[in-house]
Amino acid sequence: MRLDKYLCDALGATRKEATKIIKSGDVTVNEQVQKSGAFKVDDHSIVEWQGREVQKPGPRYIMLFKPDGFVCSHEDGFNQTAFMLLDEVRIEDLHFAGRLDVDTTGLVLITDDGQWSHRITSPKHKCDKTYRVWLADPIQPHYADEFTKGIQLRNEKGLTLPAKLELVDAQENEVLLTINEGKYHQVKRMFAALGNKVEHLHRERIGQIELCESLEPGDYRYLTQEEVDSVWG
Ligand code: URA
Repeated sequence: MRLDKYLCDALGATRKEATKIIKSGDVTVNEQVQKSGAFKVDDHSIVEWQGREVQKPGPRYIMLFKPDGFVCSHEDGFNQTAFMLLDEVRIEDLHFAGRLDVDTTGLVLITDDGQWSHRITSPKHKCDKTYRVWLADPIQPHYADEFTKGIQLRNEKGLTLPAKLELVDAQENEVLLTINEGKYHQVKRMFAALGNKVEHLHRERIGQIELCESLEPGDYRYLTQEEVDSVWG
């Protein structure tokens, strides 16, 4: 592909804008400045503009460590949105593959590929999500059984689907919970139904994709091809 076409597709720029960017001398391909729009790039080329990598045109798949206090939506009259943490072009094309509450931290996946995110969010595909949960009161011995059998949530018809509760070492108030549904405030409501309260909630995993340990709250990175493909199972 020509370098100017690559930049048009990747940045959503017009051909005229891409030409101007290239002529400015700020664009490198594999660390060499390129001033010609006709220069050919391929799948292995590293294209940078002003020292930052320009991601290949095509669908984007991002993992973000959502901090407390950010909402998973494009607009909010009150809170900051998680999209504000992304230094990306064409933010309006992106959406969340499953939201978190404003006070929940951890893994959110962001993409512009609707079929891919549907695989994660559609109830039909029962994608596992693992949460680390800190509770107000100690875990009771009967909890694990209740989660396996299913829990009756207020204002819901049936029981929740079987969920897996794992204790964390000798912690009395901390558990890992894996569910494969995504009902509104589901984890908080499940514990509320057992008479406990979630003090803090943190998502660690969606399907096979784990929150990268090197990310700090507010950081993000692109998914590897292996992570992207894992969603198709
Ligand atoms: N369940 C909740 O209650 N809140 C979240 O943010 C995610 C799952």
